[in-house]
Amino acid sequence: MTKIARFCLIGAGRAGAVHARNLRRRIKTGELAAIVDANLEAASKLGEEVGIKNLYSDLSTALRSVEFDAVIITTPTFTHAALTMQAAEAGKHVFCEKPMALNLEEADRMITGCRKAGVKLQIGFMRRFDPEFVSAKQHILNGEIGKPVLVKSVGRGPGLPPPWALDRKTGIGFLAEVNSHDFDSLRWLMGDEYSSIYSETAALIRPDLVSTYPGFYDVAAVVAKFRGGGLGFIDGACPVGYGYDARVEVLGTEGVIVVGEIRGTTLHRINRENRVISETFRSWRDRFREGYIGEIEHFIDCIVNDREPAVTGIDGRKALEAVLAAHRSMETGKPVFLPLG
Ligand SMILES: NC(=O)c1ccc[n+]([C@@H]2O[C@H](COP(=O)([O-])OP(=O)(O)OC[C@H]3O[C@@H](n4cnc5c(N)ncnc54)[C@H](O)[C@@H]3O)[C@@H](O)[C@H]2O)c1
Repeated sequence: MTKIARFCLIGAGRAGAVHARNLRRRIKTGELAAIVDANLEAASKLGEEVGIKNLYSDLSTALRSVEFDAVIITTPTFTHAALTMQAAEAGKHVFCEKPMALNLEEADRMITGCRKAGVKLQIGFMRRFDPEFVSAKQHILNGEIGKPVLVKSVGRGPGLPPPWALDRKTGIGFLAEVNSHDFDSLRWLMGDEYSSIYSETAALIRPDLVSTYPGFYDVAAVVAKFRGGGLGFIDGACPVGYGYDARVEVLGTEGVIVVGEIRGTTLHRINRENRVISETFRSWRDRFREGYIGEIEHFIDCIVNDREPAVTGIDGRKALEAVLAAHRSMETGKPVFLPLG
């Protein structure tokens, strides 16, 4: 099959490797043309694995050296805005990982920059392409559970995110790094905008990290209210160790939809001591395998057929705004009303 979109991947870390492998092995309509990483060793290691020889330490050199249609930005959050602007100004479509940016000013610049340059901007909320989440949304739209009144989302990560995500100068904590997805899911499944957010956080799993990373927390409870009166709840924790745990429940006036299982398999072992042993999902890579493929295939379709992505910069901004409101609430101990001033 003819490849129809060429990509430059920027950031050869954890998320970058997922997209590179998918483009190489699973996505038939896209081609990986180059890998950029400020750490050339990381680019070389991934390049060797996926058979890419165009390796660069910065986007400027890649832009001068190789032809591509779009970038996939999988670098730390604090670099997203500058890289998006640079790519957009060079006429490249932008797929940017969540959280979109560190603050709303950066998010606005990214949205306006891409709009002015006439390029697509899609944010990496892969849950929106997970077959079960997609099906849940469709059942809601069909009216099968009546009007959604409460969306509850569990989002727990197995291990700590990279150090840059823990440092408040370069990241915004795991409510952004892990639970951005839950903030987006709540809004998407409720089909409404946030009106207020209240959060409580604590450092109970790794309290030792508070001295290294001031403001560090590892458990979070977030209560949200929507404009139409609906309620939301996010249960977040990281690092939980036992696996990657993503479960959502949508209560409607006429029923309930449950998405996700703590178990990562239908295989269970039961031994003579009556012990039941089940595998959990080890990682987000396994749980959302199809979502990561679906979101890039969708992005390619939007580029080729000149369509607006289903997950826009505005969606990225709304999720970021909710994360920032949760942080403000954590600091003030009070509910925070949206939109943020
Ligand atoms: N959608 C998801 O489920 C998911 C999962 C993991 C991470 N992410 C997101 O992906 C992004 C990256 O996270 P990660 O865990 O892969 O990080 P990482 O630390 O594993 O990798 C980041 C890479 O970017 C490189 N880099 C840093 N600054 C750069 C720059 N200016 N130009 C080029 N390369 C640069 C680093 O050298 C590193 O190799 C974050 O926004 C994160 O939230 C999303």
